[in-house]
Amino acid sequence: MIGVLVSGSGTNLQALLDAGLPIVAVASNRSDAPALALARASCPTAAFALGDFPDRSARDAAMAGWLAEQGVRLVVLAGYMQLLTPAFLDRFPDAVVNVHPSLLPAFPGAHAVEEQLAAGVEEAGATVHFVDEGVDSGPILRQERVPVLPGDTAESLHERIKAVEHRLLPEVVRELCAR
Ligand code: GRF
Repeated sequence: MIGVLVSGSGTNLQALLDAGLPIVAVASNRSDAPALALARASCPTAAFALGDFPDRSARDAAMAGWLAEQGVRLVVLAGYMQLLTPAFLDRFPDAVVNVHPSLLPAFPGAHAVEEQLAAGVEEAGATVHFVDEGVDSGPILRQERVPVLPGDTAESLHERIKAVEHRLLPEVVRELCAR
């Protein structure tokens, strides 16, 4: 039973749904995230905005509790743009994974695509990894290289990376479900 956390457009969430994976809940830090709207047709959704809680731990505890109530055993971050605290991670040990648009440990953080272009790398990539308290720093499960082409913009490179993410993430999640 999978729970997905989202903050953005939700193309990775769509790839997970298209793969027929057992997604039972989708949560976000933003009530207006397009990904949350996309999920509403498929399963229960909820928003946990930081401003509605005294602190980050309280928000994360509430979000983890709600996911657990829905029967979630594996959590997938699909474009979730906030760090998770132990209040969340301790509820799902070794069961939180993230997808990131670079060949980690190179280029962690929220601006990985722009930074790879600025650094002039010939190869970017996509990584699926376990989540810990750091910024994109948990153990790597799978990664794949993606070429940077002449004339690439952040948008064109990100689209090419996302095409790989949409294949890689459902594959890894399916394997984790079979553990
Ligand atoms: C993806 O590139 C993912 O690697 C990063 O955020 C982006 C989310 O895109 N963490 P989407 O919301 O799945 O379209």
